[in-house]
Amino acid sequence: MEQARQTDLAVFIQGLPKVELHLHIEGSLEPELMFELARRNGVTLPYDSVEEIRAAYQFANLQEFLDLYYQGMAVLRTRQDFHDLTRAYLERVAQDNVRHVEIFFDPQGHTERGVPFTDVIEGILDALAEGERDLGISSGLVLSILRHLPEEDALKTLEAALPYRDRLLGLGLDSSEVGHPPSKFIRVFEKARDLGLKVMAHAGEEGPPAYLWEALDLLKVDRVDHGNRSLEDPALVARLVTEGMTLTVCPLSNLKLRVVNDLTKHPLKSMLDLGLKVTVNSDDPSYFGGTIGENYRAVAQALDLGRDDLAQLARNGIEGAFSTPERKAALLDELNAHLTTS
Ligand code: ADE
Ligand code: ZN
Repeated sequence: MEQARQTDLAVFIQGLPKVELHLHIEGSLEPELMFELARRNGVTLPYDSVEEIRAAYQFANLQEFLDLYYQGMAVLRTRQDFHDLTRAYLERVAQDNVRHVEIFFDPQGHTERGVPFTDVIEGILDALAEGERDLGISSGLVLSILRHLPEEDALKTLEAALPYRDRLLGLGLDSSEVGHPPSKFIRVFEKARDLGLKVMAHAGEEGPPAYLWEALDLLKVDRVDHGNRSLEDPALVARLVTEGMTLTVCPLSNLKLRVVNDLTKHPLKSMLDLGLKVTVNSDDPSYFGGTIGENYRAVAQALDLGRDDLAQLARNGIEGAFSTPERKAALLDELNAHLTTS
């Protein structure tokens, strides 16, 4: 009986039309492709096999992950590499019935290695256009600022992106959170808002609630990435609920980076019950052990989520997207059709 219920739920989850709002394209680099690109580009990796790479993916905190993440991205050198990376991600999530994605890229991680900004962004945009054409996955691209670097670097990066203004959805903020508060980036976020970009920031992953307040009040973010630590501050939760702010939560990431010790202790269900607009996302799927679909399946099991919770998570993803009203309405129709037929 229990087995039948689980199978039923797995089928229900598979058919949910999903939206991924928190995905670092460089974090979707699977070890197999990492090896292939290393060979293609004559880059030496400090590993002998795919198994050795996977075994190295054990992290005590965010920084330990970031050290390997920046090391891994060194195999990405050409426009073709960025295309192949993005295409591989889209083909994988098409299997999860992902219908729309808004993905981050970290240009500073590439330009500081001598890779031209144009090659990075053109390669990604090529693959996103193909994903729309071949897989029916709509998308947006978010330029993410590395917060451990000075704001001057961020301003120069935004400047380099100006010719692509119309093909960018937004500006994000990622990398080492503690010690690099949102207040460090007031000017670059103001500039992005003036350009009409959507703005978002990683906040409250490892950083305190004060960083979330800063993201809201100083950066005036349209969306919050992670936001787990908002739960420590009831006034902050009230504000996020009142504003209908979307939080892009990443359960398997939180487990791998020890933001939570055990998935059964993950705050996702409490966040839903408080009325926060939480969504499910994979963050860096190749490092954290699962796509968005695997994140849905893992939390459904660990937190004993039912169909209503899962449907609400999928709905929050659609509503939290920065897509056109027409696309969002079409995705809501897909969701409603799934709910009435399964
Ligand atoms: N860059 C890639 N993944 C990240 C995460 N989870 N937090 C901060 N920076 C990141
Ligand atoms: Zn992230």
